[in-house]
Amino acid sequence: MNIFLARVWALLRSIFWNKLNDADVAFLRDYLHKQEQILFYSLSARDQRHSLDVAYTVRDLLGKRTKINPDKLYKAALLHDVGKAPARLRIRDRVCQALFFTLLPPLADYLADRGSETTGYWRRILFFYKYHPRLGAALVKGISGNDVLYLIEHHHDAYWSGEPKELTILREADSLN
Ligand SMILES: [Fe+2]
Ligand SMILES: [Fe+2]
Repeated sequence: MNIFLARVWALLRSIFWNKLNDADVAFLRDYLHKQEQILFYSLSARDQRHSLDVAYTVRDLLGKRTKINPDKLYKAALLHDVGKAPARLRIRDRVCQALFFTLLPPLADYLADRGSETTGYWRRILFFYKYHPRLGAALVKGISGNDVLYLIEHHHDAYWSGEPKELTILREADSLN
């Protein structure tokens, strides 16, 4: 129940109270270099808020763990959904994406696989839903390190026992926001 409420709160916050404050901007400057900041600001206001909240949840989950270097994990959290930036999705599109993939997953997959950034409405929004990790990885290539690129590319993959700890933490933080 707590997780459900946390997710509802995160959604409402990202829709209605998504303005960045001074602490958010300072956090971005601490962990993203100039080119990464440009990528971050190409996200919609809603996705900027979501990405910052994911990074803050990563910070909470890391707690006192000292074996994990937080810097690349914060970078990945801040940029994990950057592949959605070119889509300019509205709330309605996001609801349609989630409903389609929940109710008719084989058809959603079929259409997503035949979609691109320029195809018709359904194939386009389903394409972005399924492939934004890969698109995001392509966007950060040559800008962020390979570790960050890997985390972005695989943030929606199913858990596997040999995966890097950072990926498990990023996925958990994303699911809480
Ligand atoms: Fe994502
Ligand atoms: Fe996300």
